[in-house]
Amino acid sequence: MKGIVLAGGNGTRLHPLTIVGSKQLAPVYDKPMIYYPLSMLMLTGIRDILVVTRPSELPAFRALLGDGRQLGLSIDYVAQDKPRGIADAFRVGADHIYGEECALILGDNLFHGANLPSLLRRSALKVDGCVLFGQEVAAPQRFGVAEIDPRGRLVSIEEKPRRPRSNLAIPGLYFFDAQVVDITENLTPSARGELEITDVLRAYLEKGTAELVWLGRGVTWLDTGTHETLLEAATFVRDVQRRQGTRLGCIEEIAMYMGYIGPDDCHALGAQMGNSPYGQYVMERARSFSRGMPPKAFSEGL
Ligand code: G1P
Repeated sequence: MKGIVLAGGNGTRLHPLTIVGSKQLAPVYDKPMIYYPLSMLMLTGIRDILVVTRPSELPAFRALLGDGRQLGLSIDYVAQDKPRGIADAFRVGADHIYGEECALILGDNLFHGANLPSLLRRSALKVDGCVLFGQEVAAPQRFGVAEIDPRGRLVSIEEKPRRPRSNLAIPGLYFFDAQVVDITENLTPSARGELEITDVLRAYLEKGTAELVWLGRGVTWLDTGTHETLLEAATFVRDVQRRQGTRLGCIEEIAMYMGYIGPDDCHALGAQMGNSPYGQYVMERARSFSRGMPPKAFSEGL
C-alpha cells in the first residue's frame, strides 16, 4: 500500500502564521506538524510515501525529510499548483499510486491512542473499496459526518452539514483500493470548484464498498487547522510527553521500532539534533532498544 500526506493548501485560517511557510511545517510543540501524520503511515506499515505540497513549499519539505532513506522510507514530492480540494491529491498523485491501494492522511490531523497501530494495520490489510474511520466529537458540523444504522452499517456521509445526522466525525485518514484514481477522475467538482473527499467516499458508499471503522474513545484525534486547535494540539502533546517521558510522532523512534532502520542509524539521527531534548530522546531510545528495552511486546501502542 502506498501513502499520501496532503500538505498543500494556503492555510488561510492560520494567517499570518502561514503567509510564509506551510501549515504542515508549523510546530506542534516540539516537532513539525507533518511528523504526526507521517508517523501514522509508518505505523500502518507504509514505506512508500508521496507528500503533496504547494510549489513554493516543496523545497522546505524536501529539506526536512529528504528522500526518506534515513528513515528506511521512500518519500517523493509533488506540487499542487492550486488547492483544489482534498481528493485532488489522487489527481496530482495519480502516477505515484496508480494501480495500487493507498492511504491518504491529511497533514494537519494528529492521532494518538493505545492499539491504534494494530487497528490501522488490520484495517489496511483488507481494503475492498474504501475504509474510513469514525469518531464521536462534540462539534460534528466542522467535519465530514457519517451516519450509521443500529447494526453499525454506514448509511450516509455528509460534508460539514449544518444539521448533522450523528456526532460521528470522519477524521482525515482513509484507505482506498486501486480504483480511487478512476473514481476521482469521474467526480464533478463542488460549487467551489473543489474535488471533495466526501464525494469520493460517497461514490464507494453507493457501490456498497465503503467500510466505517469506529475509532473508539481510547483514541484521541485532533486537527490543527485553527490557532486554537493548534495550541490545543501542542498542549496535548506536551502533557502526554511530560507525563510519560515518551514522545508522540517521533519518526526516528518509530522507524527503528518498525524495523525500517537499525538502532545505530536511529542513534545517528538523534546525534544530529543532539543539542535538543528531542535529539537526546532519540539517542536514548536507540540505546535502550539495543539493550532490548522496552520489550517488543510492550511497544505495540507506540
Ligand atoms: C477535511 C474534510 C472533512 C474531514 C476533516 C478532518 O475538512 O473535508 O471531511 O472531516 O478534513 O480533519 P477541513 O478540515 O479540511 O475543512
